[in-house]
Amino acid sequence: MATNVANTEHVSGGGTDEPDQTATDAVKGTEPEMRAVVLQSFGGVNRLKVMKKSIPVPKDGEVLVRVKACGLNFLDLMMRQGSVDDCPRTPFILGTECSGYIEALGTGVENFKVGDRVVAFQRSGTFAEAIAVPAKYVYEMPNKMTYEEGAALGVCYAAAYMMLYEVANLTKGKTVLVHSAGGGVGIAVAQLCKMVDEIKIFGTASTGKHEVIKDKFDHLFDRSACDYVEAIKKLEPKGIDIVLDCLCGEDTNKGYDLLKPMGKYVLYGIANVVTGETRSFFSYARTWWNVDSVKPGKLWDENKSMSGFQFYHYLFNQGGEERVNIVMNEIFKLHTVNILNPVIDSTYAFEEVGEAMLKMHDRKNIGKILIIPEQEPKPKPVTVTETAASEASSTDDVKEPDTPK
Ligand SMILES: NC(=O)c1ccc[n+]([C@@H]2O[C@H](COP(=O)([O-])OP(=O)(O)OC[C@H]3O[C@@H](n4cnc5c(N)ncnc54)[C@H](OP(=O)(O)O)[C@@H]3O)[C@@H](O)[C@H]2O)c1
Repeated sequence: MATNVANTEHVSGGGTDEPDQTATDAVKGTEPEMRAVVLQSFGGVNRLKVMKKSIPVPKDGEVLVRVKACGLNFLDLMMRQGSVDDCPRTPFILGTECSGYIEALGTGVENFKVGDRVVAFQRSGTFAEAIAVPAKYVYEMPNKMTYEEGAALGVCYAAAYMMLYEVANLTKGKTVLVHSAGGGVGIAVAQLCKMVDEIKIFGTASTGKHEVIKDKFDHLFDRSACDYVEAIKKLEPKGIDIVLDCLCGEDTNKGYDLLKPMGKYVLYGIANVVTGETRSFFSYARTWWNVDSVKPGKLWDENKSMSGFQFYHYLFNQGGEERVNIVMNEIFKLHTVNILNPVIDSTYAFEEVGEAMLKMHDRKNIGKILIIPEQEPKPKPVTVTETAASEASSTDDVKEPDTPK
């Protein structure tokens, strides 16, 4: 990671337990610079800072992407907390997906040219004005796709597509349950289910989202307000064919119980470990402790399957790049023919990444939150203290004798 930090400024959005760390580093060197959102140490949103870094130089097999939009994922919140096992060491630039255009090519890159509009995945570092990324993790966007759509279609749609069609084998007439139904992946799952006939889709989401997403789902439940297992069993006494679980803990056991014979359970997240802005070891341990172990003999007896899916592990650690390339191109085609249309909840500037994350922590997003490098931060409402200070100073002004102009 580049270390020649030129300048720092504080990122807005939350915590107050850290001393102000406003720019102190002197400018070093004369390399071209860019702005980036750096996680200084694991913890709350006050650990984020917008900093100046050197623009990376693409190495062999890499391209330099000028970033236009980045997707904010639940994974970014977990990385910030330090709840992800294979995180880089701090400080590092956050962000795992973006869209933009190719500004330069490293040696040996033949399938792209300067100016191509692309979506890119990276282990971390996309919340920056420019990234150098291996060309094998870059996908050319169709002409009509906007940068916002490209960034919103990335990991959520690729993961949803692979879980439904490659892990769970979605076919006509199946019933599907997905949690966090109003989020990036949840909405992608709903849209992808509509491609197959007679799918009945059940979702859990906070009540405030139901009105907005009700046309995408057959039945919605709020986990904090009802027993969703009971409610689903009343509607589907035989159970559910496919359970997509991003929560883990007790919801894993509930998902397994809800499966009908030949049903498939897919674990793709552990959102239950997140119980606040900072990491809780207790929640982490409790979530995993609560998962019942299921022996193969039980699966055999009951004709049920349990599986797991982690998109980035598959792509970065398990040689999934060829398969993901095919999936991304398929997703782009489905967007071109208007079958897949990402829902964008809101956009934020680099300085507002903390606020964007708090919105996700507070379960307020419906669809995808994007981070836009060129966006200006929204003006902050004037606080009472500031108003009083400004009134006092304007009163002082009145008292001052007139000075000739
Ligand atoms: N395995 C993979 O390849 C893969 C890829 C992408 C995402 N994921 C996982 O899929 C899930 C959704 O990801 P996303 O990026 O699309 O995010 P998202 O659904 O937009 O995330 C925000 C929503 O998650 C729900 N939620 C559930 N537990 C929560 C908690 N403990 N704290 C705050 N919100 C919680 C909230 O909605 P409600 O209150 O309405 O439920 C919240 O609005 C995440 O668990 C993520 O890790 C996995």
